[in-house]
Amino acid sequence: MSSQPDSGLVVAGTGVYLPARALTNQDLEKLVETSDEWIMTRTGIKERRIASEKETSTFMGVAAARQALTNAKIKATDLDLILTATVTPDSMFPSSACRISAEIGATGCPAFDLQAACSGFLYALIVANQFLRNGAAKNILIIGTERLSSVVDWRDRNTCVLFGDGAGAVVVRQETGRKGILAFDWGADGASSELLHLKNPMARGRAIEPPAPPHPDCIVMAGKEIFKQAVTAMADSSRRTMEKAGVKLEDIACVISHQANIRIIDALVEKLKFPRDRCFANVQRYGNMSAACIPVALHEAGPEMKLKRGDKVLLVAFGGGLTWASAILEW
Ligand code: ACO
Repeated sequence: MSSQPDSGLVVAGTGVYLPARALTNQDLEKLVETSDEWIMTRTGIKERRIASEKETSTFMGVAAARQALTNAKIKATDLDLILTATVTPDSMFPSSACRISAEIGATGCPAFDLQAACSGFLYALIVANQFLRNGAAKNILIIGTERLSSVVDWRDRNTCVLFGDGAGAVVVRQETGRKGILAFDWGADGASSELLHLKNPMARGRAIEPPAPPHPDCIVMAGKEIFKQAVTAMADSSRRTMEKAGVKLEDIACVISHQANIRIIDALVEKLKFPRDRCFANVQRYGNMSAACIPVALHEAGPEMKLKRGDKVLLVAFGGGLTWASAILEW
């Protein structure tokens, strides 16, 4: 944990890629024993996007990255670093960041993946912040891209209704005279990792018999416990970051939290005593896209929440690991 005043990190451009195919709650009613009413009441999710065969994590990441570069008005050759946060890479190696760098024409630029599940994008933002502050980089591309439909057990109603596919990308750069990230907080608790995990089938021998559901190579989750831990960890992390930044709740223009479940978002703002109407939510449209949630939210929140330069935005996430992170970003 550490505090970083006056970093000068500026979001220069954002981009997204969301597969065209929407899977509604009504569609899910045909797959598992569930109902639109149950999903809406328990999660707030109406639909989620599902990738086609060609829409891999790399494919979606490339599209989001190209849009972010265009919006930042820079070329791929201007980049000093590419970071990709994903739990669903196309390959263990090369990394998604290397694959994306080749597609966008950033050959030679250092590129690597960073994995902190749903906190991955914020972890990457905090890492990027260090390189910008110490002058080692001027322009950094951060991508969060996930194809969670490939790792969801579509027979398990406890998990399959929650997740979706998509990608978001952000170009961050150092700008003199801008405060950027006022403070951040991050942490992990590996001892509780079994509450939410996705095993790597390639790291062990393959089973001869098909495994019983829930499939061990799919997302496994203790939903109720994760719910409680997510709310507590995100509220505690947010408070620590606000304290480090010397920022009060009333100074925050908008909260952009990880988009797992509308009830988690509601419980978080209630715990923080933050006005709900100043908290961004798009989970109803996309479900939980893990590391892609925050960059997609950053792309949409600007116009939707009418954010203006100088507004203080609290970013906060929680995910498998367990991991959590928060940061206050001056817009
Ligand atoms: N449709 C209908 N019934 C369902 C469904 C479904 N899709 N899924 C579970 N149920 C049933 C269960 O079988 C159980 O039935 P039982 O009581 O007969 O055994 C019952 O509903 C469970 O109900 P609740 O315990 O009241 O469900 P709860 O309110 O805890 O909601 C949920 C479950 C939505 C999973 C919630 O615990 C949750 O959101 N947890 C957080 C999980 C999460 O967001 N994980 C994402 C990764 S972590 C992160 O991103 C923060």
